[in-house]
Amino acid sequence: MEALQYSAIRKVKEIVGRIKGMDISGYKDDFVARRIRARIIALGLKTLGEYIRYLQRNPSEADKLLDSLSINVSEFFRDPWVWDVLKDIFKRIIAEKKIKVLRIWSAGCSKGEEPYSISILLHEILGKRISEYSITIYATDIDRDALRSAEKGIYNISSLRNLSKSLLEKYFIKIGPASYMVKPEVKKLVKFKRHDMIKDPPFMFMDAIFCRNVLIYFSRDLQEKVLRKFHMALRTGGILILGASEYAFGDALKMFKPLNTRARIFRKI
Ligand SMILES: C[S@@+](CC[C@H](N)C(=O)[O-])C[C@H]1O[C@@H](n2cnc3c(N)ncnc32)[C@H](O)[C@@H]1O
Repeated sequence: MEALQYSAIRKVKEIVGRIKGMDISGYKDDFVARRIRARIIALGLKTLGEYIRYLQRNPSEADKLLDSLSINVSEFFRDPWVWDVLKDIFKRIIAEKKIKVLRIWSAGCSKGEEPYSISILLHEILGKRISEYSITIYATDIDRDALRSAEKGIYNISSLRNLSKSLLEKYFIKIGPASYMVKPEVKKLVKFKRHDMIKDPPFMFMDAIFCRNVLIYFSRDLQEKVLRKFHMALRTGGILILGASEYAFGDALKMFKPLNTRARIFRKI
């Protein structure tokens, strides 16, 4: 967001503040600038000037921007019951595999909580047999700061609240009173990369794609476009996992069959 001028960012804050009757001037300019940039991309706009005009004509955009200010929020095993469902599904996928290769994509991986949860899940399913498999978890995000943090793999205990004590001890090293680092064997399966799911080409031949709590920030057209991309990226029979308030709709329903509707898990037709 180098090109964005801070006065223009302050103008956005002022407009949002006026529409919502609240003061958001305390948010850091750099942080808000990153979020505005994500909204500009999501809306298919090009410049900050266009965005300001869009915001003035569409006051509901203020809500979207406000929501997006907490867009990096994530945690290990988010919605734990979904991961119980996923454990059974991955056991089946692995049992059906003729070649011991697994390719998984965590799109919008934030600070790494999701891809590392996938890695832990696979370690739990496969145990010692994991060394027989070639597993790659591609973990991508547009936010470079989030990716830098993800690569470090250091977390506050608050984002680990869904892990049992035994899982915490098995897969993390305690490095401070409330901070933990993921063990090398968990990191080993995960490849972080900066990638914009809207404009960059998809990864291919995926067994599973996680894209949770990202599409909610996109317009309907853009959601459909991204879902088409994911369809292309998955192998036939591969699965797509969306967030709790997201759904495959419209044309996407011709491409994906719900596998578990409540858990938002779909299978490529
Ligand atoms: C709320 S987090 C979701 C993290 C995790 N998937 C989860 O469900 O907990 C949304 C992430 O999507 C990323 N994101 C937003 N737009 C994106 C895009 N066009 N391409 C890749 N990542 C994007 C944000 O930077 C953020 O890290």
